Amino acid sequence: MTTQQYQFPKDFWWGSATSATQIEGAADEGGRGKNIWDYWYEIEPERFYNQVGPEYTSDFYHRYQEDIALMKEYGHNSFRLSISWSRLIPGGTGEVNQEAVSFYNHVIDELIKQGIEPFVNLFHFDMPLELQEIGGWENRDVTDMYQQYAKTAFELFGDRVKKWFTFNEPIVPVEGGYLYNFHYPNIVDAKRAFQVAYHTIIAHAKAVKAFKELDIKDGKIGIILNLTPSYPRSDHPADKKAAHIADLFFNRSFLDPAVLGHYPKDLIQLLAEYSHLPHTKDGDAALIKENTIDLLGVNYYQPRRVKAKEHLPNPHGPFMPDWFFDNYEMPGRRMNEYRGWEIYEKGIYDIMINLKDNYHNIDSFISENGMGVQNEERFIVDGQIQDDYRITFIRDHLKWLHQAMEEGCHARGYHLWTTMDNWSWANAYKNRYGFFSVNLETKERTPKKSAHWFKRISEENGFDE
Ligand code: NOJ
Repeated sequence: MTTQQYQFPKDFWWGSATSATQIEGAADEGGRGKNIWDYWYEIEPERFYNQVGPEYTSDFYHRYQEDIALMKEYGHNSFRLSISWSRLIPGGTGEVNQEAVSFYNHVIDELIKQGIEPFVNLFHFDMPLELQEIGGWENRDVTDMYQQYAKTAFELFGDRVKKWFTFNEPIVPVEGGYLYNFHYPNIVDAKRAFQVAYHTIIAHAKAVKAFKELDIKDGKIGIILNLTPSYPRSDHPADKKAAHIADLFFNRSFLDPAVLGHYPKDLIQLLAEYSHLPHTKDGDAALIKENTIDLLGVNYYQPRRVKAKEHLPNPHGPFMPDWFFDNYEMPGRRMNEYRGWEIYEKGIYDIMINLKDNYHNIDSFISENGMGVQNEERFIVDGQIQDDYRITFIRDHLKWLHQAMEEGCHARGYHLWTTMDNWSWANAYKNRYGFFSVNLETKERTPKKSAHWFKRISEENGFDE
């Protein structure tokens, strides 16, 4: 075999990622309980793009065999799904739902049969409604219920699933639900937000503890974080300070405890300054210290360009009186014209080098990267979406990942967000990200051009220019 210019190691993970609420559908089937998304849609459907709610998905619950066959055909050796807590344990505590056990068993077995390694995540924004009603992550008791849920999942599926993740993007429910009002429960309160973030880490550490106690053969436990490099928008010291604060809050409030086993000192100081320190309990520091992870999933979409608040013409922002980040008005940024996010491929390299230098080069992989596109049907030619923009996007990110690996970073794989076009939180179907498009009427799947390209690079384990 000839070596290509961008050659990846032979056991590199190629695949894509999904989450239960975004793909399963069948919200009223199989004994599933309600989560906050079902409820929020019931009470405020107008907050969802085109008023499309979470019951209207690509229907993986009934079509998983077909989807797994597509993954296989299009070069996946691994795939991330999440377990729906309210499907496995309706209401969040108590009896395990045997129909859910059977569903997830079938999915896992089918993946393994097709030679696709299942990567399983436990919490992807989908709090069971009953637990939100008692305060969700604000209520410390929920961390024990979560630990029980995690343990149940490890016991049921750990004989076959070897890559486990406690949370996906835990900062998002904090930002969305407790700071910026874009997720239920739509609270805007910094102090409560920090409590939620802290309890998430406590829940995470408890799950890692349960995992370690079970001593699952060859099992690896991790967390998936949307690490967002924070770059100051100028060399002004105030902008640099603001970028540091953004990094502390949005990245390091999860990354440091999960990987290093403690919080950054500067973050603690900062929270103390604003009287936002969360309630803690004796033993928490030891719990966090003793339960660090084996494997880190990195979701990367775009960086954060940070400007200190006092330098903005119109300062605003719900918390942190003296800083603010602004992602949208900076000359010279390259934007994804189909969605509006910045494209900055080198961010992936900067993240990896940071992990190597400051996080003992922990084993990691790109657990999400991808490009959302509106009205993607306009690119159909001969029945296929010609998503050359997505191919370029993936390829250019892979080049920087490759560079980081050449420099010794322990990156193990790349998963695209997402497998088939899926329902995305309040944005519903506005932005499409999948390898496979989905006709929402018939649910028919059609591979996009990028799926064909991905098949080739995963089979060849790399590519030339
Ligand atoms: C992050 C999340 O994990 C996923 O749920 C979401 O749909 C994608 N990014 C795209 O925004």
